[in-house]
Amino acid sequence: MSLDHNASLRDADPIVSRIIDQELRRQQHGLELIASENFASRAVIDAMGTPLTNKYAEGYPGRRYYGGCEVVDEVEQLAIDRLKQLFGADHANVQPHSGAQANFAAFMAIVKPGETIMGMSLPHGGHLSHGASVNHSGVIWRAVHYGVDPTTGRIDHDVVREQARRERPKLIIAGGSAYARIIDFAVFRSIADEVGALFLVDMAHFAGLVAGGVYPSPVPHAQIVTSTTHKTLRGPRAGLILSIAEHAKAIDKSVFPGTQGGPLEHVIAAKAVAFGEALTADFRSYARRVVENAKALADALVERGFAIVSGGTDTHLMLVDLRPKGLTGKVAEKTLDQAGITVNKNTIPDDPQSPFVTSGIRLGTPALTTRGMGRAEMVRVAELIDRTLTHPDEATLGRVKLEVEELTSNFPLYATAQPAGRVRRSA
Ligand SMILES: Cc1ncc(COP(=O)(O)O)c(C=O)c1O
Repeated sequence: MSLDHNASLRDADPIVSRIIDQELRRQQHGLELIASENFASRAVIDAMGTPLTNKYAEGYPGRRYYGGCEVVDEVEQLAIDRLKQLFGADHANVQPHSGAQANFAAFMAIVKPGETIMGMSLPHGGHLSHGASVNHSGVIWRAVHYGVDPTTGRIDHDVVREQARRERPKLIIAGGSAYARIIDFAVFRSIADEVGALFLVDMAHFAGLVAGGVYPSPVPHAQIVTSTTHKTLRGPRAGLILSIAEHAKAIDKSVFPGTQGGPLEHVIAAKAVAFGEALTADFRSYARRVVENAKALADALVERGFAIVSGGTDTHLMLVDLRPKGLTGKVAEKTLDQAGITVNKNTIPDDPQSPFVTSGIRLGTPALTTRGMGRAEMVRVAELIDRTLTHPDEATLGRVKLEVEELTSNFPLYATAQPAGRVRRSA
């Protein structure tokens, strides 16, 4: 360990440097199918590793509690402007450190503790931060949840309307982590209006698809939209909040000083880069290919006898019901991991297994699509998954791992990395 302030990471702390290299190699040589993950561009990663991390900037551009903020003001304003342009929103807050933080700040801005919030249930594809009992959102507010229809695997809007009439929530939330279909935001808004609730969409999963024009935008329908920036949107690991002008002040106050201190200006700079990328025609083409690839992967899996909840996907993700294969999500995740294929176990609606075991796995195509893979590779990936899960013996796992390495080497990731594996910085 060296305290030389100008030493490179590799020279200053070879232990951390080696661990980072190892993770880079894992990402380069594996098949990344976790639906909430992606590979940020080198430009996004470069922006994060900068001296902007040194700056305290509590407050907002032009209204800070610290001196010397004129430069970070510029980068934060740029991120705000690009984000508003990207989604056509009245107001944008780019300071939330994460998606869960964004949700908490947004809820606190518009719902009083003890009031009722209504979101999608976690085991049916919702998110922890939408009022699950183990999350503070389920403690601070009275949370009620809607699910999906057990036969179609889709949201039944009539059931949601009936439940809203009964429960009279102050906030209705749409969006989740494992729902593969298009959500009808206009119907949700009409339900919210009918019962006197505000409507919030958490577009964390599909924000990049909205930006790319392949998923309907919730912005014209919801008073507030929250998101992460690191999933389909392909930015740094962080969050954001959009709102109509009426809630702008309350949202800003709720993020700072309500829930956070100093904003992470280095991450906000990376968000500005990612929003700039998402405004390009190339990103629209990327988003289209993400969905095409997901459909191709789902079709190929169905052809191999896998069951997909709701029968398929409209988005970047799918939920595979493993019961017909006699497997649990836990076993499948572990077995696939051994072959270099990374997925996550996931509950399926009305899952008979516990959340630690589950009957399903969730698969997504954002990361593989970033690498340049297309429909032909999705058919290959389905074949590799099938082979691994059907014959989980050592010989098969070893062979599949080699094939995974061969496949991924044809789609290099951070290709100009230095020999030791670090992403090379521009001079
Ligand atoms: C719908 C949704 N909202 C919020 C989050 C939380 O984001 P974070 O992990 O950045 O707190 C996630 C993360 O998976 C998510 O899927």
